[in-house]
Amino acid sequence: MSDFNKYSRRRFLRDSSIGLLAFAGAPSVLRAMEGMGSMGGMQAMPKMTPNRASANFKPDVELELFCKSTSVSILPGEQTRVQQYSAKLLQGPPDTLTEIKGSYLGPVLRLQKGQKVRIHLHNQLAEPTVTHWHGLHVPANMDGHPLYAIDPGEKLVYEFEVLNRASMNIYHPHPHETTAKQVYHGLAGALFVHDQEEAALELPSGEYEIPIVIQDRVFDEQNQLIYVRNMHDRMTGFYGDRILVNGRPDFHIDVASRAYRLRVLNGSTARIYKLAWDDGTPITVIGVDGGLLEKPETKPYVMLAPGERLDVWADFSGRGEGSQLVMRSLAFSGVLPKMGMMMHSGSLPVGSDYPIFTARVTRKVSDSPKLPTTLSTINWHKISDTANPEKPVPIGITEGHMSMVLNGRPYAYNDIQDIERIRVNTIQLMEIFHAHGGGGGHGNSSAAPEEQGEEQQSGGMMGGMGMGGMRHGRGMGGMRHGTMGGMGGMGGGMGGMGMMMSMAHPIHLHGQSFQIVSRSIDADSDDDYASVREGFIESGLKDTVLVMPGEKVRIIKPFQDFKGLFMYHCHNLEHEDMGMMRDFSVE
Ligand code: C2O
Ligand code: CU
Ligand code: CU
Repeated sequence: MSDFNKYSRRRFLRDSSIGLLAFAGAPSVLRAMEGMGSMGGMQAMPKMTPNRASANFKPDVELELFCKSTSVSILPGEQTRVQQYSAKLLQGPPDTLTEIKGSYLGPVLRLQKGQKVRIHLHNQLAEPTVTHWHGLHVPANMDGHPLYAIDPGEKLVYEFEVLNRASMNIYHPHPHETTAKQVYHGLAGALFVHDQEEAALELPSGEYEIPIVIQDRVFDEQNQLIYVRNMHDRMTGFYGDRILVNGRPDFHIDVASRAYRLRVLNGSTARIYKLAWDDGTPITVIGVDGGLLEKPETKPYVMLAPGERLDVWADFSGRGEGSQLVMRSLAFSGVLPKMGMMMHSGSLPVGSDYPIFTARVTRKVSDSPKLPTTLSTINWHKISDTANPEKPVPIGITEGHMSMVLNGRPYAYNDIQDIERIRVNTIQLMEIFHAHGGGGGHGNSSAAPEEQGEEQQSGGMMGGMGMGGMRHGRGMGGMRHGTMGGMGGMGGGMGGMGMMMSMAHPIHLHGQSFQIVSRSIDADSDDDYASVREGFIESGLKDTVLVMPGEKVRIIKPFQDFKGLFMYHCHNLEHEDMGMMRDFSVE
C-alpha cells in the first residue's frame, strides 16, 4: 500500500466499502449490476497520477495505442457501434503491428523477448479505462491494474521489458467494474511474444500463422450489440447467440494443403468451448497460455475457457483441393449451475454443438513443414521448491446468492488479507477450490464472519431466482427471500443445493505463468466431468485455469522480480466485474 502515497488521490475518499454494500443490496450498485448503466463504480478507486515516460528508459519499440468509439461493418446492413483499439508505431520493427482487416479487434502486437517497450495509451472513450497485458510478466504499476485507470482524454505511459518466453497473450481493458462491458464492445487484441527457442523450430509463420480469436455476441435488429439485460446474465456470465472469429461472423480461412499454426484465443466474456475438428481428426496442441509445450500433444478435443489460449498445429497436407475442415464446439455439460442451465435458453446454449470456423483447402502444394518432435524446455518447479509445501495459498471460490467472490470477499483494492500477502522472489503452492457460502471444510479461514452475517440476511440469490425472483423484474423482492438463503450454513458441502449452484470458473492470475500440479474432482460430479475431462492440458505453463464444479486444482506459481499488487480473478468477465477478483500483495 505504501506506494500509493506517491500518487495524488483526487478521487479518493469516496466510499471504498461500496463493494461490500453492493452485495448487501445498495440500489445504485444493483442498477449497475443489471446493466442499466454505470453508477460510477470507479469512484470506489483512488485516482493515480498517470505514469509518464521516463528519460532513462530507452525503448526498442515505442507505440501509441488509442481506445475509441467507432463503427464497423460486422453484419450485412447497418454498421455496428463498437469500442476499438488502434495503434501507431513510433519506433521498432515494422512487423510489430498488424491490423486484422475489417475487424473491430485491435491490431496484432508482436514483441520479441528482451525488447524494451514503451506504449502511450490514449483514452479517447467517454469513460475511464486502462489496458492490461494479460499473460505478461511486468512490474505491478505497468500491469494495467484498475487503480491506474485514466479518465477520458488522459494518457498513460507503460514501460517494460519483455521477460516472457514465446507465447500468445492478450491486451484488454481492466477498469474497475467495466472490464466485461469494454471487452464485449470490442476492446481486445492479440499480443505475441517471440523468442530464439521458438525461432529455431521454424514453425509456420507469416500467412501460415493465423490468429483465431473466438467471441460470442448478441445483435439487435439494427445490428447493434446487446449486453447484459438482467441479474441472471451476470450471475452465469453473458452469452451471445452468435459466434465471431476475429470479429467476423461465419468465419472461414482459405488454406493451402500444408501445415499451419493457429493461435487460438477465447476472447469471449463467459462462453466456454470444447474445440474439436468435425471429422474426428485429433487436435495437435503445441502450446498453451504460457507458450510452447515440451512436446506436441494430441487431444480428441480441448476445453478453452475465457482468457485461455491454444497453439494448434493444423496440417492440411494430403487434403484435396475443395475439401474443408470445420472446427466445432462439441456438446458438454456441467459448467453452468443446474438452475442457470434451465434459464439459459438462448439459441446457442452453452455446451451445445455448433461450428466455430471453417478451413477450406483452396491450393494444393507439395511441401509442408514437419511437426517437430520436441518443442521447448520448460523449467518445472517441484512442490519442494515452494515456500509453502504444506500450506497452499487458498483461492476459494464462493458462489451464492448475490455474490460470486474469491476468498470470501468481494474486490476492494485496499483489503489485503494475510493469506494474500506473498513474499517476493518465492514460489508458491496454491489451491483453487469451491468454498461455497461457508468456506468451510477446507481449513481456510478466509470467509469473513461479518459477511456470513450478511449472507444470512440477504438470502440466496440463486434461490431467489429459482423461486421466480427474476420474473419480478429488477426488484429486490425475489432475491431477499430465496429459499437457499444462508448458504453459509451449508458449511461448504458439495452435495445437494451446493452442487446445484456450482459452476465452472476460469481462474486467472496476473504475473508469471504457473504450472498445474494436480486436479481432483468430487465424486458426485462424475457425469458432467466425463464430458470435459480429456480436454485439459497440464503439460504447459498457464495463466488461466478452468476449475469445474467440485474440482480442486493445485498450482505452483512463482512471484519473482516485482513487488506490488497482482490480481487474481475469475476470467468470466461478468464475474470479475461483480467482484470475483482479489489482489495478491507481493512484498
Ligand atoms: Cu485478462 Cu486480469 O485479466
Ligand atoms: Cu491478466
Ligand atoms: Cu466465475
